[in-house]
Amino acid sequence: MEDKMYRVEHLKKTFQSANGNRVQVFHDLSMDIQKGKITAVLGPSGCGKSTLLNILARFESYESGTISIPNNVGVVFQSPALFPWLTVEQNVAYGLKRRGIRKKERKDQIVKYLQLVQLEEYAAYYPSELSGGMQQRVALARTLILHPEVLLMDEPFSALDPKLRVQMQQLTLELWKELGQTILIVTHDVEEALILADTIYVMEECPEGIRKKIEVPWQEKCDLIRNTKEFFELKNSLLNN
Ligand SMILES: Nc1ncnc2c1ncn2[C@@H]1O[C@H](COP(=O)(O)OP(=O)(O)OP(=O)(O)O)[C@@H](O)[C@H]1O
Ligand SMILES: [Mg+2]
Repeated sequence: MEDKMYRVEHLKKTFQSANGNRVQVFHDLSMDIQKGKITAVLGPSGCGKSTLLNILARFESYESGTISIPNNVGVVFQSPALFPWLTVEQNVAYGLKRRGIRKKERKDQIVKYLQLVQLEEYAAYYPSELSGGMQQRVALARTLILHPEVLLMDEPFSALDPKLRVQMQQLTLELWKELGQTILIVTHDVEEALILADTIYVMEECPEGIRKKIEVPWQEKCDLIRNTKEFFELKNSLLNN
């Protein structure tokens, strides 16, 4: 039977700083990432969330442990990091072009993904002409168009104002329902984790790694969950310990 999980087992990571200090980020971190679901990693600043994500994306080395996540991952960062000299359309096309996809096929894909992130009217604009939320949507389209097996997101909406942030969370859920991606999202926002995730891992100050795993009890993910007693109670229990 095909494994329904990607597994991260006994991961150990220490940084050697330029000043000679050693920072042990985690010494024995294990987690499962359910395929086709959204997993959130929640934790205070400096606990090692970005380090974990960078290791999973193969941007960062680690000392020991095993990771079963495939190489074909897509990453969305806090700041969209678009190419300023390329238009929206060219930014989204960039990865496809590098893969040698023909122009006609590229065009169809670009139209589809710009529609998915509701930016089809902005294809010819440059990133500097867009709002922060729109830029982040371009970054999402640029990543999703490459069909990554796992989408890794590092605080992707934390630079956005609260209203835009909620809109981006809704868009993420719509895209997820449409594309069925496996998503791992790092955040320090409890509500964001509860709205998006099926499973939440709570991290502690380093080097303790993961403190607990929470399965979100509601089946259907939608914004109305915010108004339920269940949501309120789970949010408070996460905020208070
Ligand atoms: N390249 C590096 N060299 C040395 N130490 C590092 C490096 N990158 C991160 N660290 C250290 O590792 C620890 C974890 O950092 P990390 O960026 O993973 O935290 P984080 O949970 O993502 O925090 P935040 O919520 O603020 O983004 C911190 O103590 C940090 O100082
Ligand atoms: Mg970080």
